[in-house]
Amino acid sequence: MPITTTYLNEVRPEVHLSKMLNPLLDASIAQLLHNQPDTLLKLVAQHGSPLNLVWPHAFTLNTRALQSVLEQHEVQHAIFYGAKANKSQCLLGAAKASGIGVDVSSLYEMQAALRAGVPADQLCATGPAKTEDFHRQLVQAGALICVDSLEEFDHLKTLLEASSEAIKARVLLRYRPNNCAASRFGMGAADLLVCLHSLTGLRAFFDFEGFHFHLGGYGFESRAQAFREVADFVDVARKMGLTPTMIDIGGGLPIRYIEPHAYDRFIHNDNTPSHYYNQSVPKSYYPYGSNLTASQWLNSFLESAFSPRQSIAQYLKANHITLALEPGRSLVDQAAISVFRVTRSKKLADNKTVLFVEGSSFSACETWFASEYLVDPILISAASTSPTPMQAYIAGHSCLDDDVITQRLINFSVSPKAGDLLIYANTAGYQMDLLENEFHRHPLPRRMVATCCTHGNYAFSPDY
Ligand SMILES: Cc1ncc(COP(=O)(O)O)c(C=O)c1O
Repeated sequence: MPITTTYLNEVRPEVHLSKMLNPLLDASIAQLLHNQPDTLLKLVAQHGSPLNLVWPHAFTLNTRALQSVLEQHEVQHAIFYGAKANKSQCLLGAAKASGIGVDVSSLYEMQAALRAGVPADQLCATGPAKTEDFHRQLVQAGALICVDSLEEFDHLKTLLEASSEAIKARVLLRYRPNNCAASRFGMGAADLLVCLHSLTGLRAFFDFEGFHFHLGGYGFESRAQAFREVADFVDVARKMGLTPTMIDIGGGLPIRYIEPHAYDRFIHNDNTPSHYYNQSVPKSYYPYGSNLTASQWLNSFLESAFSPRQSIAQYLKANHITLALEPGRSLVDQAAISVFRVTRSKKLADNKTVLFVEGSSFSACETWFASEYLVDPILISAASTSPTPMQAYIAGHSCLDDDVITQRLINFSVSPKAGDLLIYANTAGYQMDLLENEFHRHPLPRRMVATCCTHGNYAFSPDY
């Protein structure tokens, strides 16, 4: 049963924004936070802390923005949502409602996508270590399989040859671009050619649809380079009589958590060891103040040179190739906030303070990757308080020394108190639930779907 919140005439909670790394907020989320902070207090009282609120409307807007770039360039396209970014079922429902496919990396992601109503032929399976069971179900469902290696190709061939049914596997071959020769993902030129040769004699078992790659990092230039490399194999395959029709460039489209100017200012002026409780600036972190949005990135990729006279978009059209994408993080931009209730603050040596919250860094997990979520939490004081500034780092409720959500010493304009809330914004992409578990037998955090009803009204229901 959805719970529709009503506004109560109580002591009004106060919202305090940081002055340093203030998160960008979706308009509907900002409205809830600023106009109805008491709703968040009530939801946490009812469902526990931390509480993840998932906002499918943001997913829909992000999908629409990418589709509109692809349509402007008039390229044939297929978007597969990278379901690994978040475990929410309602976001798979949003993918289905937007008519896009899903990139699945396990049997369980596949089952969840099918449960959300995504047609099986719009699933694309990635990952280097698919099990036999996963292969079998993908083949039976008619899903697309990105073959990662010669070894995987042989396993799939054996499975198909042993099948009593005349059934074919739809495959893309995963290419390993030249600039990541040591990667364990994908195939270099020699193995790719072996696969292509095999495919010419295995038409009864395989429908070969094209090529795939996925790169680390967030530059469109490295994708344009990999695209130019893989396009040579399109020519090779066509000369062999095969008919590739798709190049899938994977994910890695950037998102913007912080206004780029504020982020640059922080990186250049404030990101020093003294800003961190552990006196250590992480060696790497996500580019939280990205100069490009995902749509601008995609536009730049399509406008990149394929050859001196042809852009990538022009190449795609001239060669009747469908551009596939597997955006994970960029489709869930703004699609969740994570709400932690403050347990207490504690004075430490050197006049430092730690703030404990109900929840752990498994539910806001960047520190487990020796990195830091460079986005400040928003404080909601349960009751109005006098402005007594406080600087504190933020720790979870476990007995692990490493259970730190924010190593940075956050400057609060008023001291957080027990029962107040810290809101971590934009946590849908790999933050909120990647590492969540039941350590100390704490129940898994609840996930609620936040639906924007009429203007300024919201409904919340469990996300199954
Ligand atoms: C094969 C593949 N596709 C897509 C993605 C999604 O990437 P992102 O969330 O950066 O868009 C990943 C992420 O690891 C991946 O491995």
